[in-house]
Amino acid sequence: MAFFIWKDEFSVKVGQLDEQHKRLFSMLSDVYEKMMEYKGKESIASVLSGIVSYTMTHLADEERLMQTYGYPEYAAHKLAHDNLKAQVQDYLDREQRGERVDLIDVALFLKNWLFSHIAEVDKRYASFFNAQGLN
Ligand SMILES: [Fe+2]
Repeated sequence: MAFFIWKDEFSVKVGQLDEQHKRLFSMLSDVYEKMMEYKGKESIASVLSGIVSYTMTHLADEERLMQTYGYPEYAAHKLAHDNLKAQVQDYLDREQRGERVDLIDVALFLKNWLFSHIAEVDKRYASFFNAQGLN
């Protein structure tokens, strides 16, 4: 069951980045599904490892494109990515130290971050990239 359905309103008008965002949505749906049957025995890292590593790949790809095309808001955008990475790392570190980390918290955090980041931060590069011929 897909918990998160991609809609055109999420489009950032750059095909390759839309495809990555779609994949993140579908991975997030899988995490939610897994969360429903989570028995608390696996580590959050193992449950989230796929989406965490693909998120990092995606952020790096976005940053590379912004740098290649000289996106003027690169620094602020990179800062938003770095904040996310620090928060994800913090969850993983806390679990590593033996603290109880709620998988639902982590999944909800990722979902909320992704939705608002696409809507408020990623969409800002759409017209810039399109003007550079990147669609
Ligand atoms: Fe981004």
